[in-house]
Amino acid sequence: MKIVLASSNEHKVQEINEIAADYGIDVKFILPPNNFNPIENGKTFQENSYIKAREAWKLAKSWILADDSGLCIDALNGAPGIYSARYADTPELRIKRVLNELNGTADRKAYFACAMTLINPQGKVEYSFEGRCEGTIIREPRGKNGFGYDPIFLPRNYTKTIAELSEDEKNQISHRSVALRQILNYIKTNLLITEIH
Ligand code: IMP
Repeated sequence: MKIVLASSNEHKVQEINEIAADYGIDVKFILPPNNFNPIENGKTFQENSYIKAREAWKLAKSWILADDSGLCIDALNGAPGIYSARYADTPELRIKRVLNELNGTADRKAYFACAMTLINPQGKVEYSFEGRCEGTIIREPRGKNGFGYDPIFLPRNYTKTIAELSEDEKNQISHRSVALRQILNYIKTNLLITEIH
């Protein structure tokens, strides 16, 4: 089964294909057409993932999976949230802004969220789900792996930040993998025809 991933990020397509391959089902995610350019003006991760999925469906008219994700910090009332990618001009400045805003705050609880929407070839929402990875924001960035806010995020029950974990370790616990496994499970149970011997 081929599914268009509503994202122009090749790394994301690769990461999602790796998780799908590990899951052991015959699903391949492919890039959308070149003119895919959604306007993400939703108010929630779920709305934004739906907007991306619809936009990709208009172009490809096939199975579509879209995701939208970000970091939500309790003491900042859920910020940066859907503005995670735009919180400042560079990844380093975005981390700096978060650390400044949390300066002197004891409550460091946060979570990464990833909403996914699966649309069928008829253009209807087949399934949607939000995956989360809970943790805390540390005071100084640590680690070189991953991207975005990984260097300041300590997953619950871990002593390393996500940027200090390997890609495989991150894939065990990330918000994206939690959401994707739920979607893959839905596909496996409801959409793939299993041969009966
Ligand atoms: P996107 O919706 O997956 O493109 O993510 C939006 C923004 O959220 C990214 O630009 C990052 O700033 C942040 N983000 C999402 N997922 C992660 C992650 O796994 N690690 C660190 N930052 C993330």
